[in-house]
Amino acid sequence: MSEAVTVVDHPLVQHKLSLMREKDTPTAVFRQLLREITQLLAYEVTREMPMTRKPIETPLEEMDAPTLAGKKLALVSILRAGNGMLDGVLELIPLARVGFVGLYRDEKTLQPVQYYFKVPDGLEDRLVIAVDPMLATGNSSAAAVDLLKKAGATNIRFLCLLAAPEGIARMQEAHPDVPIVTASIDRKLNSQGYIVPGLGDAGDRMFGTK
Ligand code: URA
Repeated sequence: MSEAVTVVDHPLVQHKLSLMREKDTPTAVFRQLLREITQLLAYEVTREMPMTRKPIETPLEEMDAPTLAGKKLALVSILRAGNGMLDGVLELIPLARVGFVGLYRDEKTLQPVQYYFKVPDGLEDRLVIAVDPMLATGNSSAAAVDLLKKAGATNIRFLCLLAAPEGIARMQEAHPDVPIVTASIDRKLNSQGYIVPGLGDAGDRMFGTK
């Protein structure tokens, strides 16, 4: 697998992910676990944020203290399941700007069609983190990244909970410049497009729909 894919195999991430996979895990617990894992993954996906220094005074002396540089990052949720990852990142980076991309699959062409797009301005100067828990076929993820690039983004990272090898291959073909951070690369997609072993439909499980 390319080095543009990072699997966060930290014990806490893997333990929480196993709890999420279990079919009887209740909705509220599933949502809370997703929030917690997202925070741990966010630590990895933001590792290379640009830094600067600013003079501050501690109670003892002056120092040049490291601080984040540049424009605030943009967090973009790929609807609807991406919304389950927003709060976790926002708790860590409360000043992040937030955007949304909504896509549905045209039943005739099977291609993703945009129904909503609202993103922060100045994307070209921001680190953009696109979030979607499930990187399955990769079609909607690749289409979402296309839209972000058309809107000016040049520094995009993709954060997901689970990835299928097929989705990673699709993303790397369409957007080799976009690093992917995930908690697991599962075995494959099944004939219905679900990741296996996976965790089922992430949106249904976090919102209690069916
Ligand atoms: N979307 C999901 O929610 N689950 C999958 O397994 C694949 C796509």
